[in-house]
Amino acid sequence: MWKASLLLVIVAVGWQTRAWAETVGITVDVDKPGVQVSPLLYGIFFEDINRSGDGGLYAEMLQNRSFEDFNLPMGWTSLNEGGGQITMNLDKTQPLNETNPTSLRLDITRIGPHGRAGVINQGYKGISIGSKDPVLLPGDDTSSPGDYKWFDWMKQFADAQRRADNGLNIEQDKTYRLSFYARIDPNFTGPITVSLESQDGAVLASQNVSCSGTAWRKYGAKLTAAASDHNARFVLSATSAGTIWLDMVSLFPAETFSQRPNGLRADLMQMLVALHPAFVRFPGGSFGEGYRLSEAFRWKETIGDLAQRPGQWNIWGYRTTNGLGYFEYLQMCEDLKAEPLFVINCGMAEKDSVDTGKLDPWIQDALDAIDYANGPASSPWGALRVAAGHPSPFNLKLMELGNENGMGYFWGGGSAQQYAERYNPLSQKVKEAYSDIRTISTAPIQKAPINAPVETVDEHYYPSAEWFEDHAAMYDTYDRKGPKIYVGEYATKQSAGNGNLSAALGEAAFMTGMERNSDLVIMSSYAPLLANPEWREWNPNLIVFDSFRVFGTPSYYNQMLFANNRPDVILRLALQLPRTFDPKARKPLYAVAGRKNDTGDIIIKVINITGQAQDGTIRLNGSALRLTASATVLTSAGPSDENSFENPTRVAPKDADLGQVSSPFNYTFVPYSITILHLKAK
Ligand code: AHR
Repeated sequence: MWKASLLLVIVAVGWQTRAWAETVGITVDVDKPGVQVSPLLYGIFFEDINRSGDGGLYAEMLQNRSFEDFNLPMGWTSLNEGGGQITMNLDKTQPLNETNPTSLRLDITRIGPHGRAGVINQGYKGISIGSKDPVLLPGDDTSSPGDYKWFDWMKQFADAQRRADNGLNIEQDKTYRLSFYARIDPNFTGPITVSLESQDGAVLASQNVSCSGTAWRKYGAKLTAAASDHNARFVLSATSAGTIWLDMVSLFPAETFSQRPNGLRADLMQMLVALHPAFVRFPGGSFGEGYRLSEAFRWKETIGDLAQRPGQWNIWGYRTTNGLGYFEYLQMCEDLKAEPLFVINCGMAEKDSVDTGKLDPWIQDALDAIDYANGPASSPWGALRVAAGHPSPFNLKLMELGNENGMGYFWGGGSAQQYAERYNPLSQKVKEAYSDIRTISTAPIQKAPINAPVETVDEHYYPSAEWFEDHAAMYDTYDRKGPKIYVGEYATKQSAGNGNLSAALGEAAFMTGMERNSDLVIMSSYAPLLANPEWREWNPNLIVFDSFRVFGTPSYYNQMLFANNRPDVILRLALQLPRTFDPKARKPLYAVAGRKNDTGDIIIKVINITGQAQDGTIRLNGSALRLTASATVLTSAGPSDENSFENPTRVAPKDADLGQVSSPFNYTFVPYSITILHLKAK
């Protein structure tokens, strides 16, 4: 991986022990194993936020493929060349189907001898819909100005970040699969030309498609690019006049992750693979919860024929196709070799909830979701999974009932009492029907006055790095008789830039506490996972991408280090600060140690949050062996350092071989660093 020379660190390793009281003392009781570390401890949380779904992880390249995104053809512009003249309008008169009511009507009114007319889609570069057009959710009206302003603000925020050079990423010799539905008026006689072009019109790939008939028909084309351009555009055009209707105009790279049709972007999936996530929580977050219930994620509307999926307005200010639907999420988990954790809406959104007497359909949704994922071909929903091409079960074992409901947050989500009234019947029916499903509550309603039967409770934290550091020992004293803990969302949000080293240091300090207490904290996931910076409604995020590039933040590498170095059992560790340390100062170091069962390897994680190198003496009580040591270190010159498209690995881990050591040995923890010491028994 990052096997670069780590001279700085190697220079810092000394082989003579220094006076114990002058250095940081780290004593690990190798012969006294403590709690087992949960195999599920380090997972990921995918939420459709910051355009992380369509045009992000979901490899669809065209924005607004079904023309349902707004009350004008957002993402599409007209092309009038050489005397060609076209008008385009949204049309609801003869829809493709009931759930997809809008199509695009193109009237080519004039075409010169060398003219062409058509439409252009630039992908997800974020075509402005005009700063005066507010983004209103369906069902909203202007009498609720609070909602109106919020979404308008988000849109303007996104507008401000849009770049001009981030169109379709087209790569030479790669093939792109186009599909579209069309209806053709008899007055149009020519072929339709579909092409991938540079912004100046240079053709990268092109094909004519003969279309005919006034009824909707599906067409397809394979476009292989003759040259590369990461700022390309898709053009559908004609050189003869007439009227055409279009719908579901979709373009995918042929090479998706695992070569799946309707698949996921390979480079982004590789970033997730490298995290070795034990589970994937999906699809949100507030995305699943919805601002109102009418925008909640209802999984039954996200399976089957893509053209029949209605899509949804989502709380993050844009419309989602749900082409990345329940089946695709389950398949993604399988591809990542991770357990699926489905967050099902419990009948509560941020601003409204279903009456308790009308909860049955929501309960049925949860039961059917389990049946769809796990049921046999003979069960009604299992049969649909089989029909979708997955005969074996997905083995769904984890289900969260709601998201951030019952916490009484100022932005909504309901009170503890309101949540309990919905959680109780829902969890009871799920457990009655499927006792092997682990349910997760979004609020600690196991406590009086409610006393609900909670197996696992999800906690969310978005504070400062200092808060995380100061709470690194928080779980040491948690009640062991209560439910297990899932830290389902956490990230340093304050003073974190766009994801800096300081943020990662704070999270790492906190993670030492989660790992040490993994008998209680059985799962965790950083949030959010992905962001297209042109649509970044939430900051920071673990991974940043545009149409052709991707990089991980320092927090990404921190997650990778913890997940790839998860021990099976905790070893007791005592951290002794040097005599010279001012007891009134903030704690400089955080540490946790553990051992792998299969190899006997000892893993010690040490976080130095300070700007000073910290000399350490490491003692392994109960081990007289010589061990082969290596260190992996995540550090940089300053705590505000970040990665970027231009410098994606400025803050990335580096490995160093430390040779043979035996207890005690010295090691210097460099400033602002996360160090994984790996001590191999053989
Ligand atoms: O992670 C971003 C958001 O933070 C999630 O959607 C929500 O659950 C939380 O408030």
